[in-house]
Amino acid sequence: MLKQLEELERRRAAARMGGGEKRIEAQHKKGRLTARERLDILLDPGSFEELDMYVEHNCTEFGMAEQKIPGDGVVTGSGTINGRLVYVFSQDFTVFGGSLSERHAQKICKIMDTAMKVGAPVIGLNDSGGARIQEGVASLGGYAEVFQRNVLASGVVPQISLIMGPCAGGAVYSPAMTDFIFMVKDSSYMFVTGPDVVKTVTNEVVTQEELGGAITHSTKSGVADLALEDDIDALLRTRMFFDFLPLNNREDAPFRPTSDDPLRIDHSLDTLIPASAAKPYDMHELIQKVADDGEFFELQPGHAGNILIGFARIEGHTVGIVANQPTVLAGCLDINASKKAGRFVRFCDAFNIPIVTFVDVPGFLPGVAQEYGGIIKHGAKLLFAYA
Ligand code: HXC
Repeated sequence: MLKQLEELERRRAAARMGGGEKRIEAQHKKGRLTARERLDILLDPGSFEELDMYVEHNCTEFGMAEQKIPGDGVVTGSGTINGRLVYVFSQDFTVFGGSLSERHAQKICKIMDTAMKVGAPVIGLNDSGGARIQEGVASLGGYAEVFQRNVLASGVVPQISLIMGPCAGGAVYSPAMTDFIFMVKDSSYMFVTGPDVVKTVTNEVVTQEELGGAITHSTKSGVADLALEDDIDALLRTRMFFDFLPLNNREDAPFRPTSDDPLRIDHSLDTLIPASAAKPYDMHELIQKVADDGEFFELQPGHAGNILIGFARIEGHTVGIVANQPTVLAGCLDINASKKAGRFVRFCDAFNIPIVTFVDVPGFLPGVAQEYGGIIKHGAKLLFAYA
């Protein structure tokens, strides 16, 4: 019996080492944590229950039969965040660059299926070179299975993606189908095709960071909801964010008591809005004064600043905030603002989160570029979501 326990411990230790010390060191040198270190920060201490720790790939081509690493590049399981259940997967870049094999995908699908069954959110920590090249089509099939579950889980359990390293090709589309994307500055990037392919096809010269870094996606494209300083910042902010969300579409978001007096009167609000309609004011100030403890978890603060979205609490209950921002484009609604707020309103609707809307809007933004860009259809997304 003792021998068997020793063997089990040996196998566990081997799985925990992932791709080995050298690759772990390389990961640390890039300022990134390993897959397991990330889970240690994200989850409550001692709460992680790992699944499929010894799963290996089934590929025999290109000498892969001799290269097997337990876990196959992704750590999966469940744990808690402030006592509430969550399912997680964390891709391990030290094992075949965190690339997605058939078995790797099956591990992710298993925790997604379970999360949907028991009604708990899924958080994915993405750090992957994309499809496992050696497996070819089997790997692509794995992506299809993950995408299918992203769609089935949509509106049933919240799905959050953290991008903590490379994320290229098909790998970007699973996060894109989840509800929220948080990226880490200077160490993560997302693009469908990288700078070399872009150069070949369109002759545009661009760096990885410019094309798909956290700043690009949290300002220009709006793909990312937040750009965070480093791995630790991203994981701690995700814990904070998680507390605003219900576990599934049948439960309420957690109640968080506040010491704010619900009947408080704030006289500064009498003068916040200038007498002249031509003068702007910062809508953040109004939101902070209405929210419990002045806490507003803003999403996409750097993109489409003419509309503000995010979560707050009122008398301890989560609310979604949508607000026109008079300091940017006079608070007009344009294509980007409509897409940004439309998607957010749909999320709140799916999870029964009340929405508080602060309206101060001159109307839709006039212009040829807006009309050519399809403001009619994009603007309709926001109207549709509200209706
Ligand atoms: C297998 C991979 C891999 C992959 C990386 N590795 N990506 N192994 N399949 N896709 C391995 C490397 O061989 C290397 O192994 C280790 O991971 C670390 O990679 P490096 O290149 O040394 O790291 P780095 O310099 O940081 O570059 C990271 C990278 C690069 C930018 C991600 O590795 C890269 O470009 N990889 C290929 C990306 C790609 O083309 N993916 C397929 C996309 S197509 P060793 O043993 O040396 O440590 C796709 C289609 C899906 O995803 C469509 C679905 C609809």
